[in-house]
Amino acid sequence: MFDCTSTMSLLAVLVILLLTWMYFNIRRPLGMPPGPTPYPILGNALIFMGKKQPAEIFKDMSQEYGPIFTVKFGPVWAVVLNNYELVQEALLTKFNDFSGRPDQYMINWFTDNGKDIAFAQPTPTWKFHRKLAHVAIKKYATSELETLLADITPKLRDVFADKAGTPFDPKEVITLAVYNIIASMCFGHNYQLNDPRLKKFVQISEDINEVFANGTLSDFVPAARFLPSPQVNKIKKLTNEFFDILMKDVSQHLKEYSPDEPAKDMIELLLHAQRDEKETEGSENKLTDVHIKQILSDLFSAGTDTTTSTLLWGIACLMDNPDVQKKIKKELDEVIGDRPSSLSDRGKLPYTEATIMEIMRYGTVAPIGVTHRAIKDSTIGNFEVPENTWVFINSWALHNDPEYWDSPEKFSPERFLDSDSVKQRLPSFLPFSTGRRVCVGEALAKAEIFLVLSWLIQNYKFEKPPGVTDIFAVSGNPQGLNFTKPYKAVATSRY
Ligand code: HEM
Repeated sequence: MFDCTSTMSLLAVLVILLLTWMYFNIRRPLGMPPGPTPYPILGNALIFMGKKQPAEIFKDMSQEYGPIFTVKFGPVWAVVLNNYELVQEALLTKFNDFSGRPDQYMINWFTDNGKDIAFAQPTPTWKFHRKLAHVAIKKYATSELETLLADITPKLRDVFADKAGTPFDPKEVITLAVYNIIASMCFGHNYQLNDPRLKKFVQISEDINEVFANGTLSDFVPAARFLPSPQVNKIKKLTNEFFDILMKDVSQHLKEYSPDEPAKDMIELLLHAQRDEKETEGSENKLTDVHIKQILSDLFSAGTDTTTSTLLWGIACLMDNPDVQKKIKKELDEVIGDRPSSLSDRGKLPYTEATIMEIMRYGTVAPIGVTHRAIKDSTIGNFEVPENTWVFINSWALHNDPEYWDSPEKFSPERFLDSDSVKQRLPSFLPFSTGRRVCVGEALAKAEIFLVLSWLIQNYKFEKPPGVTDIFAVSGNPQGLNFTKPYKAVATSRY
């Protein structure tokens, strides 16, 4: 009898403890925006089950909870911002408060604990690395890029000639162009289409993107990092292969590098900066070899698939809208004729520029960008946002907000035109985000997209294969970077 009572009491205490823990685990901190009730441990992670993109799921949820709401992922609270005013407040007015990055197990592993730029916390070291990347990128987003592209276009022509009017997936040729631009900028050389290193890079970065986009259990349940996981092992293996290729290039440079010559590429620029930093009195070792590896990895990862995806959205939109393709060709013919376009032509080609902006709105390749984190207690709108809350910026919702865009579901370059010029600063249009963590590669990406797209349209007419009437500009990747569904195009030479 005595034993039975003690067991019952013990059980009752355990149940009370469990219920108390559950209550505190799912209780939203006071003053935070509303949102769905989370489950213990998993939080609201199950909202991502199904085929919709997270950005679309968030937009649907904003119908119920309003433009700012809270969700919980494992132990972490996150606020989701779904309109321009809230994003402006968080990223511009309070640019410092929300400039942190989440602390995520796999990302820490991939970045040697945030020694890169994109996932680093906003420290003076991060600021220094951003500045270095800026200098390099500024150098390349100029006539240097035109020279680089002139070197790459013969390789592209070979691929097009090979396909000669037959249906093919343009991803191959776009990847070749974009990866070679970044490879030339970082390593000072470019690849042939069949170079196994190029193939490996593309494959690895696709796989890594997919795994990171879906997240791993250890990102949501910290204890899971101690469990065996084939998914985690796969990322670790891929990451090691990726860094091996990257570091081979760095070692090769170290053999040939002459510190007294001006830097010829990003590796040399970083090696110069490392030498200068070491020579500075009281230097804090802000540019170690690991930092160099991580900065290169960042530029390579952040600068390739984003641009490739935008160009693939571009070709798809131009095949879905042949009139737009015709108008761009006409404008290019009238303004620059047969010569390749140069960056200084941009102001003279408003229709082409407006089309590129519409492609970036319509495709929104980074629908929820890179997650931010509150580095101190703050507020957004009328709500409290405690330190360490994650902040999701729903750029896709901004780009489809009917308050700012008439019929946002329609592809219409005209919305970016003001009589004969391009509207430069439209609200609710932030493909590169804004504020302290704004994309470092914005100038380079815009320059690349302009030069590559205008070269493609000058030289080739893109059409759907005979008999195909499907819409091509549709999202094919439910998570992470927003690629179109794979499609086949027929590219006919105009000459
Ligand atoms: C169409 C092409 C591109 C798009 C749409 C894009 C978009 C973005 C977005 C949305 C962010 C997150 C900003 C934030 O956290 O608020 C970002 C960050 C970043 N991007 Fe890009 N990007 C593109 C191309 C590039 C290129 C070409 C490079 C470099 C070669 C690059 C390098 C970076 C880096 C290093 C960051 C991290 C910045 C930081 O955390 O301080 N991106 N980009």
